[in-house]
Amino acid sequence: MFPSSPTAAWSSCWTSARPSTEEVDLAVITRDVVEHFREESARSCSPLLIHTEPLVIGRWDRIRLEQVITNLLANALKFGSRKPVEISVTSEHGTALLSVKDHGIGIAPDKLPHIFERFERAVSAREYGGLGLGLYIAHEIVSALGGTVHVQSTPGVGTCFTVRLPCSRPPDSGVSAQHAAGHA
Ligand SMILES: Nc1ncnc2c1ncn2[C@@H]1O[C@H](COP(=O)(O)OP(=O)(O)OP(=O)(O)O)[C@@H](O)[C@H]1O
Ligand SMILES: [Mg+2]
Repeated sequence: MFPSSPTAAWSSCWTSARPSTEEVDLAVITRDVVEHFREESARSCSPLLIHTEPLVIGRWDRIRLEQVITNLLANALKFGSRKPVEISVTSEHGTALLSVKDHGIGIAPDKLPHIFERFERAVSAREYGGLGLGLYIAHEIVSALGGTVHVQSTPGVGTCFTVRLPCSRPPDSGVSAQHAAGHA
């Protein structure tokens, strides 16, 4: 059901014709994705600790939100140095907040401004696999939904990504097929 990797997310994200916004609960979606990662979390020895407020409701594209959460969680497990990963979903003043925090390798300050760019990586390919697409895709999706993604990171201490999404959004907004094609 969920994309198994950011690359899978890439293809399933951009090949679907139009976003399909519907009333969904970000807390429920996040819990579902976290459950999907339980096995990988056990393999990585990184427990997933989740805190969600009940009913973080908005008009969003469920599949694309699953892709955002998948990409952030995949990174947290990959770069998380076998330490716990904390996931939180809350809301304030009509904005939903999703945060994914790890206690892993962190990101060097000079690399931080570039990590949302396509194919940008802040690690050596020999040490960590990946294409440098996961964050680019996540950022594109969140921006198309009218939201933002912020990152705070300290090398050797850890990284926290925070996604902010407006809870109300016109039903026909989001990534259009034309827009997506322009970035493929
Ligand atoms: N949680 C994190 N901790 C430390 N570094 C991170 C974290 N998330 C992302 N990064 C850095 O940002 C870069 C870009 O992340 P991104 O998810 O786009 O690519 P990737 O994980 O390397 O490859 P892909 O997601 O395509 O498999 C990573 O290569 C890594 O250097
Ligand atoms: Mg990634």
